[in-house]
Amino acid sequence: MNPASKNIGTIALVSVVIIVLMVFCQLSQYSLLIPILLLSIGIYLQYLNKANLKLFLNFGLLLMLIVFIAHAVTQYTTIPYYYIPVAGMAMLTMLLFNDLQLSFLMSFLGSILVSLIVGGDFGVMLTFFIGSLAGSYAVQGARARGKLMGAGLFVSATHLVCLFLLNPNLQLILQRSFDVNYLYPLAANGFISVVLVIGTLKIFEYLFGALTNYSLLELSDFNQPLLKRMILEAPGTYHHSLVVSNLSEAAADAIEANALLARVGAYYHDIGKMVKPEYFTENQLLGGNKHDYIEPSMSRLVILNHVKEGIELAKKNKLNQAIIDFIPQHHGTSLIHYFHQKALEAAEDGEHVDESDFRYPGPKPQARETAIVLLADSVEGAVRALDEQSPTRIEETVQKIINNKFIDGQLDECNLTLKNIDKISSTFVRILSAMYHSRIKYPEKKGNDGNSSRKSSEKSSSQPSSDKKDSQAGASL
Ligand SMILES: [Fe+2]
Ligand SMILES: [Fe+2]
Repeated sequence: MNPASKNIGTIALVSVVIIVLMVFCQLSQYSLLIPILLLSIGIYLQYLNKANLKLFLNFGLLLMLIVFIAHAVTQYTTIPYYYIPVAGMAMLTMLLFNDLQLSFLMSFLGSILVSLIVGGDFGVMLTFFIGSLAGSYAVQGARARGKLMGAGLFVSATHLVCLFLLNPNLQLILQRSFDVNYLYPLAANGFISVVLVIGTLKIFEYLFGALTNYSLLELSDFNQPLLKRMILEAPGTYHHSLVVSNLSEAAADAIEANALLARVGAYYHDIGKMVKPEYFTENQLLGGNKHDYIEPSMSRLVILNHVKEGIELAKKNKLNQAIIDFIPQHHGTSLIHYFHQKALEAAEDGEHVDESDFRYPGPKPQARETAIVLLADSVEGAVRALDEQSPTRIEETVQKIINNKFIDGQLDECNLTLKNIDKISSTFVRILSAMYHSRIKYPEKKGNDGNSSRKSSEKSSSQPSSDKKDSQAGASL
């Protein structure tokens, strides 16, 4: 579909949604400003550069859901309207889209629309709005159910504070009708919101194709079929992925990117190596290097294919697109130096070796998290291949690798700043230096038979000999 017809399709779909909403509002005798308000969000999101049709429709669906709940509560029940879980929708937005701005927008619009529908005043709108903001903040980065329960408690407490501030008359607060209509509903509202979130999160996640922290935690379980298979069939790749994930998580944390996404993305970035694990240096134990017996062009194909096969495996196992993105983007359009060099050496006079044939197909990293995994992947391979892993050598190598990736344009399409890159680099150096630190030398013990006891100055993270041997391909694979 060309861009012009795609735009016409988007405008047509949005128009249909707005017309349907206008008809609903007209029939239910609600203000026709509601659909106009929704349209203005779409335009606002466009200006925030967050707009796409999918996000607009997902956001609109959540907003409409709370409108329908408010409509049903006021039209068909006698339940006090303060039971309506507006904060639940804001919490769902925060968990699904991991975006505080969107969650604020949902809090604002949800509060206005619900108070319009229930016929509430400015105080009602403000109570719902502040409660929703509190909920959004409280569930930010939530990974455990306990945090959700805490968020519910926080929402209820915020609602009650708003109620007391709006009605500072103690006699009024002690009246039974006030308690039944305002106090008890607002105290229960936070818990109703949490129940709504827990009950519907998985459904919306499936509908929107979103990836929440809860799903990321499920994916990080080593009993997941792909990870379990990797441990058995490609143990070297599994170990490499673990180190890359530790580096990526710490670096993402340092620049306030999504650390959990970076960690889980790193677990799955090389799953394609499971198809031919023996062709990748980290899995070659004592069997020698398979690439010594094949042409550089064949080696190139095997290495390039780990990306293609990884994507196929991930799709077959129904991984979320946000995780699949790590597979092609962790190499970007980098050059496979070792085999390119080998092909140049093997080329006969006048034979042309095209550099682009030895580059990964890309795309380059599009997000900060995938860019971090690209850097961690290269740095891990290069440092593992060093003869001497002293802090100075590690620092030199890390800086050299990151500079090369930067100069090669691999970081052009993600929004990492130079300050971010500097923080990532120092995090890598700190972690790798700690991993490869040498043990202190124990003093020699003089034995009776004149034999000195063994020296125990081996490296703490002694690598299998094959790991040293495989330095040739290092970072490029
Ligand atoms: Fe890879
Ligand atoms: Fe890798």
